[in-house]
Amino acid sequence: MSADQTADLRTALLAWFDRQGRDLPWRQGPEGRRDPYRAWVAEVLLQQTQVARGLGYYHNFLTAFPSVQDLAAAPLDDVLKAWEGCGYYARARNLHRAAQVIAQQGFPEAYGGWLALPGVGPYTAAALSSLTLNEACAVNDGNVRRVLARLHAEPQPTPRWVQAQADALLDPARPGAWNEAVMDLGATICTPKSPQCGACPLSPWCAGRASAQPTAYPAPKARPVVQEVRAVAVLIGTPQQAVLEQRAGGLLGGLWGLPTQPYDPARPGAQAQALRDLCARLPATPGPLLGEVTHAMTHRRVIWQVYAATGGPHPTDVRGAPLSRLDHKALSLAQARADSLFT
Ligand code: ADE
Repeated sequence: MSADQTADLRTALLAWFDRQGRDLPWRQGPEGRRDPYRAWVAEVLLQQTQVARGLGYYHNFLTAFPSVQDLAAAPLDDVLKAWEGCGYYARARNLHRAAQVIAQQGFPEAYGGWLALPGVGPYTAAALSSLTLNEACAVNDGNVRRVLARLHAEPQPTPRWVQAQADALLDPARPGAWNEAVMDLGATICTPKSPQCGACPLSPWCAGRASAQPTAYPAPKARPVVQEVRAVAVLIGTPQQAVLEQRAGGLLGGLWGLPTQPYDPARPGAQAQALRDLCARLPATPGPLLGEVTHAMTHRRVIWQVYAATGGPHPTDVRGAPLSRLDHKALSLAQARADSLFT
């Protein structure tokens, strides 16, 4: 693409963004000089949560922790509680850890400073340095990959190719607006299955559109295998007052939840054995099966058989504890069962 074409394309995309960019709460403040705290919370939230669902969490989080000092001083349980239901809880743990660093050292003053914070990868560091420091850093994610693959009719865009194209197109005069313009284009016009080429400000330059097969770019990737994870869980007490354990490491680390024991469904008798092992550990006496709950994540499907049990340690108040969505589903199952027994 010639320098003149690049200049025209930038003007067209930014004019479209100025007219039709999404009005989102984290987009307040001067262009290139956004409030770093609000921008950072939003970008971490949007790493794995879609804009529509993220709006409520963004609002609640900022109400609970209006400043980075408030976040740094809060107990981790309160931070996880504000994140409850949003998933990918490492984000909340990292926000809390990074807040301690920022409260001491101040907000980063360059891309490298953002990248050094826990929970901030290249995409988020590029977004934040462009939005808060006006640095010319181009974001690169699945949306950007799709937009650029179509623009150049490239069926197999490698990460290196995408970054080089993104860097070449980024408007250095308005890097933050440019990045958000590409995000909005990918989310609203250049969508995966039904791109609206007629409404696209890039269509005059788009080789994908010219091919009449824009969805052929990029070529679809093989779907990752979804792993099935099974466990038994026990409810001791009531859906309001139950025995809870704090989860360690991994996806749900720091959250509280029903005691569980994973098992391999390919092994005969493994489920019954897992229930016996779990109850021996607590110790508790297993009761009836209350039902099954499932939760789908990007690469995993978790399935629990939830049993009632008696004995075990003291039940605690469920409402105050940060719980995963799966635990809430398990408790609702028990509540539904109790309702049907008593009505
Ligand atoms: N996804 C990631 N960052 C975003 C932003 N700033 N606006 C809209 N969607 C986003």
